[in-house]
Amino acid sequence: MSASHELRFDGETVIVTGAGRGLGREHALAFAARGANVVVNDLGSSDTGQGADTHVAQSVVDEIVTNGGRAVADANSVATSAGAAGIVETALEAFGRLDVVINNAGFATYADFADVTDTQWRAMMDVTVDGAYHVSKAAWPIFVQQGHGRFVNTTSNAGFGGAPMLSHYGAAKLAVAGLTKNLALEGAEHGIRANAIAPVAVTRMNAEHFFGSADPRIENWKNEIAEGRLAIGPPALVSPAVVWLAHRDTPVTGEIFSTTSGRVAKVAFVVAEGYFNPDHTAEDLRDNAAAIRDLRRFVDMNSYEDELNTIPPLFSDYR
Ligand SMILES: NC(=O)c1ccc[n+]([C@@H]2O[C@H](COP(=O)([O-])OP(=O)(O)OC[C@H]3O[C@@H](n4cnc5c(N)ncnc54)[C@H](O)[C@@H]3O)[C@@H](O)[C@H]2O)c1
Repeated sequence: MSASHELRFDGETVIVTGAGRGLGREHALAFAARGANVVVNDLGSSDTGQGADTHVAQSVVDEIVTNGGRAVADANSVATSAGAAGIVETALEAFGRLDVVINNAGFATYADFADVTDTQWRAMMDVTVDGAYHVSKAAWPIFVQQGHGRFVNTTSNAGFGGAPMLSHYGAAKLAVAGLTKNLALEGAEHGIRANAIAPVAVTRMNAEHFFGSADPRIENWKNEIAEGRLAIGPPALVSPAVVWLAHRDTPVTGEIFSTTSGRVAKVAFVVAEGYFNPDHTAEDLRDNAAAIRDLRRFVDMNSYEDELNTIPPLFSDYR
């Protein structure tokens, strides 16, 4: 591919939350390498979301600057409106504009649903759901005023598929998918696009949980994937999808993409053709369960209307 076709971000400013480690760090490096001014936001919290360390964001900024890029560190938490306003302020003060928000900050704790505490649940919602809300809310008026802006949010297969010991995490991540769909819908008239990725990659968030800290497969991941023994790769494999979705020329909006070990694939909330009978009884549903659950014909929903449009024009000649 020629350089003229490269997806560049020269002159644009990109906020990446949680960019001090793991996936966010890779996204920040990728945007900087493509000419963006990058706000490397990271609270520097522990793998369970505790504490703070300003060096975490700064170390990625140092790496970007050493490579000839432009970046500024920000250690605000995404979990409050004041923190989110601070992140946006950092972008405007350092670079005078804002074009892209990558809502990536997050953490995972693992517990069976019976053992999830109210504190654990609240902390997960604070960072994952409220965090995406606060940062998006702070950026929104800027995007509306300038008539463009892109969000790339981070959801998870733990939400739309489910995963053991992650009920709180899965619930929070699926809320982010819902936020994404709605921002895309409301943002369209303002030139704002919103999409989400559902990544899978080895990071501190899951390495020990999945493999145990001494598992040699982590070091040998390429062979493990190639030989079908390991469906999980390094975080750098996720960033190209984020770069693509964040680019001003990418028309996609309101969509979700699984980004896993080199495969990028659309994830959709679909409604099956279903079984239509306005007079149905519970017994009819039992007897037609196969038709109700048949996904061979479906609608990929990009607004609530997409679902309603699949209902035959029933009410005019019903009753
Ligand atoms: N790694 C995976 O397989 C995977 C799968 C699905 C979703 N995700 C999501 O991807 C995102 C990145 O995860 P990762 O695997 O790179 O984890 P990570 O722990 O390596 O990085 C997350 C970063 O977010 C920062 N952070 C946490 N709370 C913050 C807050 N309140 N404000 C600002 N920064 C904060 C942390 O300090 C950390 O550096 C998360 O949203 C995660 O839920 C990851």
